[in-house]
Amino acid sequence: MGNGKLILTLAPMAGYTDRDFRRICGEQGADFAVTEMVSAKALCYEQIGKHKSEPKSAALAHIDPGMPTAVQLFGCDPEFIARAVELIATGNYRGCEYGRGGQRPAAIDINMGCPVKKVVSNGEGSALMKDPELAGRIVEAAVRASDIPITVKMRAGWDQNSINAPELARVVEQAGASMVCVHARTREQFYEPAPDISVIGRVKAAVDIPVIGNGGVFSADDAMRMLDETGCDGIALARGALGNPWLFAEIRARHGGLEYTPPTVAERMETAMLQVTELMKRKGERGITEARSQLAFYLKGFKGAAALRARINTVSTVDGLREILDSAVREENDG
Ligand SMILES: Cc1cc2nc3c(=O)[nH]c(=O)nc-3n(C[C@H](O)[C@H](O)[C@H](O)COP(=O)(O)O)c2cc1C
Repeated sequence: MGNGKLILTLAPMAGYTDRDFRRICGEQGADFAVTEMVSAKALCYEQIGKHKSEPKSAALAHIDPGMPTAVQLFGCDPEFIARAVELIATGNYRGCEYGRGGQRPAAIDINMGCPVKKVVSNGEGSALMKDPELAGRIVEAAVRASDIPITVKMRAGWDQNSINAPELARVVEQAGASMVCVHARTREQFYEPAPDISVIGRVKAAVDIPVIGNGGVFSADDAMRMLDETGCDGIALARGALGNPWLFAEIRARHGGLEYTPPTVAERMETAMLQVTELMKRKGERGITEARSQLAFYLKGFKGAAALRARINTVSTVDGLREILDSAVREENDG
């Protein structure tokens, strides 16, 4: 990471950046991806002998070979974070799949950006932006716990009156972080307003480690503007990649001054189908809700997209989904 070439990454998205979507983004030019966020505490607790339930956090931390991926941890207790890093680094935990088709992560990312009330009320996620001293201790503990690089994902700040990403980035760099990703919105803004990306430039000026910019990149134009205006080393795509993993290839082509040929409708649907088939192979009918929401993104912009989404919500088998996607392709190509 950070070797001078444009870094493109898939940002973590709970409920979306599963192993199948990460692989597809890698095929389209993402250098690495980040898992959905994993609770450090839950990963530690599910190891305790008396817990016989399925190790869900371990499953979230699973990484398939082939696509370099960071596991994202959230938590606010340096000891739990360190223990979780140790478990992940050694692979010595219940539910770990190293050696059984799993792979060690390329990095471990610490979440300092999640805005959700349940998370911040525990002092986790973006609440850490209000306590740079604790944030530094968390990173220090994580760095000491293994040889895996530690990265941090943060927001611009807690609110408009406390934009402190440059300061926090310096703190975590000092504590040993190898890279930071800055989502240019504040916690108060959640996901909505267009971000003020100038804060990414101020973080870039404040630290020597690579800085990844994030927030509001939905096109190659958005990406070029972020790179030009902030000088950041790379870009993390989040919602812009949902249903459109080809955005990685498009940005890479634009950055390299190369022609970009968008996928055909049939190719788009083939990729969508591949993704949900893999998902449902792993999860069975339990995967249907995730499959439906992933497909809804692939169908954006299609004729009668709302009606297609409504039909998707009534089927629960891979064959049923394929039928709907095939009819969507026919409709698009006919008209
Ligand atoms: C559904 C959803 C789930 C997300 N889950 C996470 C997460 O688990 N960890 C994290 O650091 N950020 C998470 N994010 C934030 C994104 O990584 C990203 O910072 C944010 O969406 C801004 O980028 P965008 O404007 O390009 O979407 C999530 C965002 C969305 C929309």
